[in-house]
Amino acid sequence: MQSFHDNGADLLWSRNLQDGREHTKAVTVSNGGELFTQRLHLRCPVEADASAIIAIAGDWDVARRLGRVPHPYTQADFRFFIEHVVPSEPTWAIVVRRSAELVGVIGLVPHGESRSVELGYYVGRQHWGQGLATEAAQAIVRMALEVNGYAKLTSGYFADNPASGRVLAKLGFKPVGRSNRPCLAEGKDKPSIEVELMA
Ligand SMILES: CC(C)(COP(=O)(O)OP(=O)(O)OC[C@H]1O[C@@H](n2cnc3c(N)ncnc32)[C@H](O)[C@@H]1OP(=O)(O)O)[C@@H](O)C(=O)NCCC(=O)NCCS
Repeated sequence: MQSFHDNGADLLWSRNLQDGREHTKAVTVSNGGELFTQRLHLRCPVEADASAIIAIAGDWDVARRLGRVPHPYTQADFRFFIEHVVPSEPTWAIVVRRSAELVGVIGLVPHGESRSVELGYYVGRQHWGQGLATEAAQAIVRMALEVNGYAKLTSGYFADNPASGRVLAKLGFKPVGRSNRPCLAEGKDKPSIEVELMA
């Protein structure tokens, strides 16, 4: 069992070795590492998450704010996510520790061979406004910079999605330009604000 605890000042990656003792060290997290924050458990998405993820990603108000989520979001789309996206990109289900409810997804898309990575996330509409996206993203950002050793994180948000701009600003991302990014759900390119966070 591997886990990562974001305790504010302490950033720990721990691994229960075969001898049962828990050792703590900074290692490169590729995929499947678990992270814990005050309210959240971030873990690898699994088959059993299908209905929760289809319900959240299938919400038009979520999909239209994302680049790569088609609408409607079907079982086949979930299959593609679990079989192709999860194994190739570090991806976490955002789960509320107290209720064990899956409330969103967060992930990193590496930029080829460079030492930078793109952050993306979504949270179910009924859970917006509670600081959950920020709390999840803070842990992932710290892990990416302090454990994985990435030099830069990038992200982008559609101009009609200021809430995500606010999340990224709270994380310390700075605007670096504008572009048009494809939005699969709307079937067109939309104006986007590009942001970066340097290590
Ligand atoms: C963007 C999203 C992840 C935010 O999730 P969340 O858990 O509600 O985020 P948080 O509560 O951590 O923070 C939201 C911030 O945006 C602010 N906000 C909300 N609506 C806003 C608006 N219309 N304009 C400006 N700020 C807004 C909130 O007040 C809060 O800031 P504060 O803490 O300074 O008050 C969520 O709305 C979502 O999943 N949207 C659909 C998918 C998406 O947009 N993903 C990101 C793609 S780039």
